[in-house]
Amino acid sequence: MTNAELIEKAKKTMENAYSPYSQLRVGAALLTASGDVYTGCNVENASYGATICAERTAILKAVSEGERSFDRMAIVSSSNEHTYPCGLCLQVLAEFMYDGTLVFDSETKGIAEIPVKDCLPKKFNL
Ligand code: THU
Repeated sequence: MTNAELIEKAKKTMENAYSPYSQLRVGAALLTASGDVYTGCNVENASYGATICAERTAILKAVSEGERSFDRMAIVSSSNEHTYPCGLCLQVLAEFMYDGTLVFDSETKGIAEIPVKDCLPKKFNL
């Protein structure tokens, strides 16, 4: 699966975002080690803290289907800039794909690949 294909899936899923409060739409597409793709969008809530980000939606969908091994995640949003994962999402990404790569795309910045490790150099461990 190419980055362009993964980004396309993230963009399609972004259209399903439920974000009446922030108006920011975010889409993620997660590639498993076996080549399957799980997608996610942000789902907001009137109780703001109950909002779930696109990245965690995708990871939770995959993990709840039994997946454990992931290579890459594409992340796009309705912003013109790259949208980087929040701290909570980074910790969840680090749990399952610390050796993986994030792929970003936006109108002004184009496509960029960043290792998860570079986004969260010191992850919390138990
Ligand atoms: N959001 C994501 O989906 N992913 C992130 O990593 C950062 C933030 C969403 C959550 C909320 O719906 C909106 O962006 C504004 O915070």
